[in-house]
Amino acid sequence: MATTSPTFTPAEASLFLTLCGRALDSRQEHSILHDTTASEIVERTGTNTADYPHAKTGMRDIALRAKKLDGVVRDFIAVHPNSVVVDLGAGLDSRMIRVDPPSTVDWYDVDLPKVIAARRKLLPQPANAHFVAADVADLSWIDELPTDRPAVIVADGLVAFLAQPALTAALRGLTAHFPEGEIAFNGYTRFHVWALKHYKGTNSIADAVANPGFDDPHAPERWNPDLTLVEEILLSRAPEVAGYPLFMRLATRLAALSTAWSRRGTTVVRYRFAREG
Ligand SMILES: C[S@@+](CC[C@H](N)C(=O)[O-])C[C@H]1O[C@@H](n2cnc3c(N)ncnc32)[C@H](O)[C@@H]1O
Repeated sequence: MATTSPTFTPAEASLFLTLCGRALDSRQEHSILHDTTASEIVERTGTNTADYPHAKTGMRDIALRAKKLDGVVRDFIAVHPNSVVVDLGAGLDSRMIRVDPPSTVDWYDVDLPKVIAARRKLLPQPANAHFVAADVADLSWIDELPTDRPAVIVADGLVAFLAQPALTAALRGLTAHFPEGEIAFNGYTRFHVWALKHYKGTNSIADAVANPGFDDPHAPERWNPDLTLVEEILLSRAPEVAGYPLFMRLATRLAALSTAWSRRGTTVVRYRFAREG
């Protein structure tokens, strides 16, 4: 990490946790995401994955939720080949490389200025890729985006760092900007937020966690009535669990028997929106 930016805040530095998780997954025999770019960035930045213990214990969850969010983007682009993709809190994720959209798609990776500066050094920027250095909570950055095209918006690992008013404002600002689209992100239940603040493996980000979490996947529909829940993906029930090591597979399959238990693990929630008239 030191070679990239020694001055990252804990929220910014959290990108290394997910980056290392995807890198470690890519080195497994039964990799879920095959994100070799993550592994290359880890090597180029001299990042020691052992500095992020939760990256090792959580690598399958991290890789699987990224895979599900990649799928949301791919499916949307297949129907809307002229769409806009927005990745909120993109960190050093190479989602655009994994999804490989056609040149008709414009892709916006949004993150805080120091992270975007690191991104410019470490990731390729094809003509249809736009790196936006902004605080998601400061809505003026949305004005840079086209207003007349459908959009698919994802946030992988961001929501926990946004206080509820900022998250609600961002969701409202985005749905008001585009004619139609989808928003998907990994959910943080109240239990997750508690765990992030108390689990030793994530204590580096404990103070940066600003969202209280939400247990009901319909809650975002109340924050923004333009959103309609399309899907709650419970990762415990994903087919990829069949490739987990024995003990983890059994524990995950047990959790999969109950929706409430599954929500204690990782979920991905997907919403649709469309402007009226
Ligand atoms: C856990 S990391 C996830 C990064 C990336 N999505 C991934 O999966 O590797 C959270 C990211 O959110 C970014 N972030 C946190 N608060 C933010 C804000 N207010 N505006 C923009 N980005 C933010 C951090 O800088 C960091 O890159």
